[in-house]
Order: sequence, then C-alpha cells, then structure tokens
Amino acid sequence: MNKKFLVTGGTGFIGSAIVKSLIKTGYFVKVLDNQSRGSNRRLKEVEGRFEMIKGDIRNMNTVQRACKGIDSVIHLAYINGTEFFYTKPELVLEVGVKGMMNVLDACISNNIEEILLASSSEVYQTPAVIPTSETVPLTVPDPLNSRYSYGGGKIISELLTINYGRKYFRKAIIFRPHNVYGSDMGWEHVIPQLTLRVRKLVKDSKVINLPIQGTGKETRAFIYIDDFVTGFNKILQKGKHLEIYNIGVMEETSIQELILEIGKIYGIKIKIVPGKLTPGSTQRRCPDISKLKKLGFKPKFDLVMGLQETIQWYNDFAHLQFKND
Ligand SMILES: NC(=O)c1ccc[n+]([C@@H]2O[C@H](COP(=O)([O-])OP(=O)(O)OC[C@H]3O[C@@H](n4cnc5c(N)ncnc54)[C@H](O)[C@@H]3O)[C@@H](O)[C@H]2O)c1
Repeated sequence: MNKKFLVTGGTGFIGSAIVKSLIKTGYFVKVLDNQSRGSNRRLKEVEGRFEMIKGDIRNMNTVQRACKGIDSVIHLAYINGTEFFYTKPELVLEVGVKGMMNVLDACISNNIEEILLASSSEVYQTPAVIPTSETVPLTVPDPLNSRYSYGGGKIISELLTINYGRKYFRKAIIFRPHNVYGSDMGWEHVIPQLTLRVRKLVKDSKVINLPIQGTGKETRAFIYIDDFVTGFNKILQKGKHLEIYNIGVMEETSIQELILEIGKIYGIKIKIVPGKLTPGSTQRRCPDISKLKKLGFKPKFDLVMGLQETIQWYNDFAHLQFKND
C-alpha cells in the first residue's frame, strides 16, 4: 500500500485522472509537469495530498530529483494536441525522446524497477486492420509530414521502454490510449473544438451550418475518462512485464454521428458542410481491446452519457480557455 508513484504530465487531462485515482487508493504520489498544458485546477480535489514538482521533462536534473524515493513511474508528459504536431514537430520529438531517455536514466540510477508508458493509437497511423490489435505493425507513412512527429516520437519511446525494460526493469508496460474524452480534456481536440464552435453558432437559430474537415464519415472510438481510468487500473494491477495494451472502446462513431449528438444536446439541427481533410489524418480508428478485457475490463459509459457531462463542462467553463492555472 505504501507504493510511491511519480506521474509525469500529472496535471494534464489523463495524468490528473490517474493521480486522483492513485491518491484515492492510498498511494503516495509525486507529480512532475511543466504546466505547458497542465492545470492545478484539475487536482483541486486532492490539493495538499501529493507532491508537486513544476519542471521540464527535458531537464535531466529535474527528472532525477523527481525520481528520488519512487517505486513506479507513470510517464505521460508529452506534447499533445493535433495542431502542435504540425506547428512544433521538432519540439514534440524533443520532449518525447529526451523526456523518455531522462525518465529511463533516472529510473536506473534510482533503482526504480517499474515503468508504465503512455503511448498512443497514433502509432498505428492508418491501420490496415480494424479493430486494431496490439500486434498490428506500427508505421510512419511519410517522414516528411510533420504530423508524424507525434506518432514517431511514441514509436521511439516504445522501443526505448521495451529494450531498456528488458535489461533494467522488473515491470515495463506500454498502454496505448485511443481517443479519451471528458470534462476539461484540453481545447485542441475534436470534441471540445466542435462543442465550442456549435456553442458560438447556436444563438437564436435552431438550424446551423457547420463547416468541418473531411466528410464526417471518418470514425473514431471515444472512451470516457472514467472508463479509461478503470482500464488503466486493470493494467496497473494485472499487466505483465513487456506487454502492450490498447485502452479504448470498440464502438466506432462517425464524426457525423458525433456532431448530431452534440446538436441534440444543444437542442438544434446541424447541417454538415464537408471540407478538406488535413494531410495525414486517419479515416477510421477503433482498437481491439480483447487483451484488456482479459484483465477484467468492461467499459460502463456510452457516448451519450459521457458527452452530456463533457459538453456541460465546456459550456460552463469556455471562459477558461487560454488560462493554465
Ligand atoms: N487524450 C488522449 O486521447 C490520448 C490518446 C493517446 C495518447 N495520449 C497520451 O497520453 C498522455 C496524456 O495525454 P493528455 O490527453 O492528458 O494530454 P495533456 O496535454 O493534457 O497532458 C500532457 C501533460 O504533459 C505536460 N508536458 C508537456 N510538455 C512537458 C515538458 N516538456 N515537461 C513536463 N511536462 C510536460 C503538459 O503540461 C500536460 O500536463 C500523453 O502522453 C498523450 O500523448 C492521450
């Protein structure tokens, strides 16, 4: 019960949910985050019950200090948000690769034998098989497309974790989240962006035209944050050394269906105006979660339930955009 965790990226969307869950279970938790996209408000309900280190994952001394006295590292610090993959690809890779190396080095010098790495569904890019299992090959379809900085950095992180893991760790595990959503999930993702745009257009009209990227037929499988944490906890408790687990749900939803659902919640009709898809975007994404199910995972939330909570949050707190405190 006295296990001590370091959560990097712990004030981020997923990190903060993991931190709260660990604290509620009774574990000691340290958080390392530079607050570039993190926010203290996400950890308000556990304020004073964890140790906070504000610092950069690229700084070796900071990571070494954060790892002192720790038994297990959950490594999530990374640059997320699709627009940054296009505008700051070199930074995405620097944070990904230097951060990963610093974490591994600090684990080794502090005798930490357990590490869990947050990878991503983006390592499959345009998967040849859907639903996509953990054995489907990872690809970088075009190194010249800056979008793949994100997936490429995750592939490198996975390779480092596996190969250092084999030599220096008792338990090194990779989990690949697939489109996690919920309240306060950040601003640069499809659900918040669509919600905020619809919210602006609503005003008095009961029917609105909504220009989008693509046709709306593209699909994703969205997992609600509470289900995500349940899945993550199964991996933490029962996951095996050098194993990789998808975390997600197997219900594929088209962007069109998602938009109609958002419209229903706002009580309006939305007419989709198709547009050009950003180069490198994937048409379909849906994980095969058989492996996680074998650990006992069963998602509870359907999209309608999760969306209601999420949209309510963005409706109430739209003014917090651009505020990181
Ligand atoms: N949200 C998803 O659906 C999803 C899907 C696949 C993978 N992931 C991965 O899960 C992890 C968490 O994602 P999230 O949605 O919570 O994103 P997030 O942006 O909310 O969290 C990432 C955190 O890392 C921190 N960070 C960024 N650069 C840093 C640096 N140089 N030093 C220290 N901290 C730094 C940010 O401030 C932020 O708090 C990431 O590794 C992400 O790639 C998320």
